[in-house]
This record gives sequence, structure tokens and C-alpha cells, in this order.
Amino acid sequence: MAVEREVIGVCGATGRLGEIVVRKLRERHPDVTVVALVRDLDKAAPLAAIGAELRRFDYDAPDGLAPALAGIDKLLLISGNAVGERERQHRAVIEAAKAAGVRLIAYTSVLRASETSLPIAAEHKATEAILKDVGVPYVLLRHGWYCENYLFRIQAAVEHGTLPTCAGDGLISAATREDFAEAAVAVLTASEDQAGKVYELAGSTSFTFADLAAEAERQSGRPVKVLHLPKPAFEAALVEIGTPAFAAAMIAKSDMGAREGGLFDESRTLEKLIGRPTTSMSDAIAGVL
Ligand SMILES: NC(=O)c1ccc[n+]([C@@H]2O[C@H](COP(=O)([O-])OP(=O)(O)OC[C@H]3O[C@@H](n4cnc5c(N)ncnc54)[C@H](OP(=O)(O)O)[C@@H]3O)[C@@H](O)[C@H]2O)c1
Repeated sequence: MAVEREVIGVCGATGRLGEIVVRKLRERHPDVTVVALVRDLDKAAPLAAIGAELRRFDYDAPDGLAPALAGIDKLLLISGNAVGERERQHRAVIEAAKAAGVRLIAYTSVLRASETSLPIAAEHKATEAILKDVGVPYVLLRHGWYCENYLFRIQAAVEHGTLPTCAGDGLISAATREDFAEAAVAVLTASEDQAGKVYELAGSTSFTFADLAAEAERQSGRPVKVLHLPKPAFEAALVEIGTPAFAAAMIAKSDMGAREGGLFDESRTLEKLIGRPTTSMSDAIAGVL
């Protein structure tokens, strides 16, 4: 008797995180059917080339969502990138998943979503509440910050000799997209039922901005000093060097979140899930310098 192949759908599969998830699923679990749910089929051609099935999926076109989810057993809902629109978009996906009979949604939320003061958390909290209300089985992959968030600042710091921040001595436990993607794959393919689980995912090691400056100096051989600024001055400095106001506000809020401990975690849950320590910030910096 033929064994039915499990079907895993990945939203945001043309994004930086989603693409890694699809690739790892294809590499490590050839017995699983991987459906890349994308709004741009041309952009997703490299995923078709590695054996993923492509289906058009636009959070802003809700009527097409449930049909596109037909036959999908497990769905990775990677949070969207349209800040301010995500509660509505995620609701549309979750309701469609319920209608289509999806057996498990894994949602990429934010570290300690229930209690964090990170401003970016509001839409994640709302999405977690929708998952509960709609009543589809779900597992929460609560992400800390990606190492990659800091790399452009490291490159600028090496160029200018200073690394400005309003994070003070706040510790940050970042991990790479690759690490988070591997965790998603582990959860989506686990033999144990994942419904109801909450994973607080962050880096195995932690750093401050002073550590980042020291590491940038060590690896580049050029002087890099951390420059501690109050939040308004930091945000203004970002705008002055050409950062769009919206992005400057986000970066300043994120650094304030680090200052308040919102990006620190020492549970090593991510490490346990992927069976190895996460990529260090030092290795991530080495990748760009
Ligand atoms: N924890 C952190 O440090 C951190 C950092 C950055 C982002 N994030 C969050 O993590 C998510 C994944 O990160 P990422 O780096 O992979 O982001 P990304 O590269 O911006 O990818 C976002 C994905 O969402 C898709 N998408 C956006 N709007 C959509 C819509 N209306 N319908 C269908 N798909 C839509 C995009 O499709 P297209 O390819 O067609 O644009 C893309 O595939 C982000 O969306 C954000 O919520 C977290």
C-alpha cells in the first residue's frame, strides 16, 4: 500500500527566511511534498527548480487563499513584512487554513510575545490571539532578532569608526536566518505532535553593542568605538546619514528593546531544537567583512 506523502506549505517562500526553509526541507526531507506559497511565481522559479510545488498565494487576495491551501497538512506562516497590515493579512491566512483543513500552523512570532515591550510585538500578539480564536492547531516559533539585522551597521561602523546605538549595555541573543529556518524545519517534520507548543528561539550566545564594536575592530583591523546616544539623538543621527525616517524609528525602537532586555534569552531552546549551537555573531560578521 502506498504511504501518503505529508504536504508542507511555506508562506513567504520567496523571502529570505522562507527560501532557506524550502531548500532545507527539500534537501533533508525528500519524502515530504513542499508547497511554496508565493505571490510572484516568476520570483519563485528557483524553488520550482529544486522540486517545490508553486502555488500563487497573496495575503491581500483572501478569496484565493483557502483553495491554494487544499491538501496541505502543515503550514509555516512566516509573518509578513507589511508592518501595520499584518494582523488583517495573518487573519485571512489563518481563517483560510481552518477552512482548508490544515492540521497544524507554525507561526513565526516574536520572542516572549506575551510580555515583551518591543513595539513590533503588537501584531504578533494579535496574530497569536487570532490563532487561538480561530481554533486551528498551532505551534509558536517566537523569534529573537536575526544576526543579519546588525551587519549593515557593522559595515558602516568599520567605514566611519563609530557604532552608534541607544541600546546601552543591553544583551542581545541573536541567531541567523539559517538557524531559525532549521528550527522551523525541525518543528514541521517532528514526529511528536507540535500543537500547543511555544518555542522561545534565540541565539546560544549574547552580545552588547560594545562587544559588536570590539569584534568589528578585531576583524577589520580598523578602530571602531561604540557611541552611546539617547534615543532621540540616535534616531536623528540615523536620519541624518540618509536612513528613511520609518526605518530609523524601527532601529531606534529595536535598540531600546535591547536596552530593556527584550532581545536577551538564555534558554538555548533554539540550540536544542537544531541540535547544535547557533551561528555566533562573530561568524556572521566574518561573513561580511
Ligand atoms: N526577528 C527579526 O530579526 C526579523 C527581521 C526581519 C524580518 N522579520 C520578520 O520575519 C519575516 C521573515 O523575514 P524575511 O527576512 O524572510 O523577510 P522578507 O525577506 O522580507 O520576506 C517576506 C516574505 O513575505 C512575502 N509577502 C509579503 N507580503 C505578502 C503578501 N501580501 N502575500 C504573500 N506574501 C507576502 C514576501 O513576498 P515577495 O517575495 O513577493 O516580496 C516575502 O516572500 C518578515 O516578514 C518579518 O515579519 C524578523
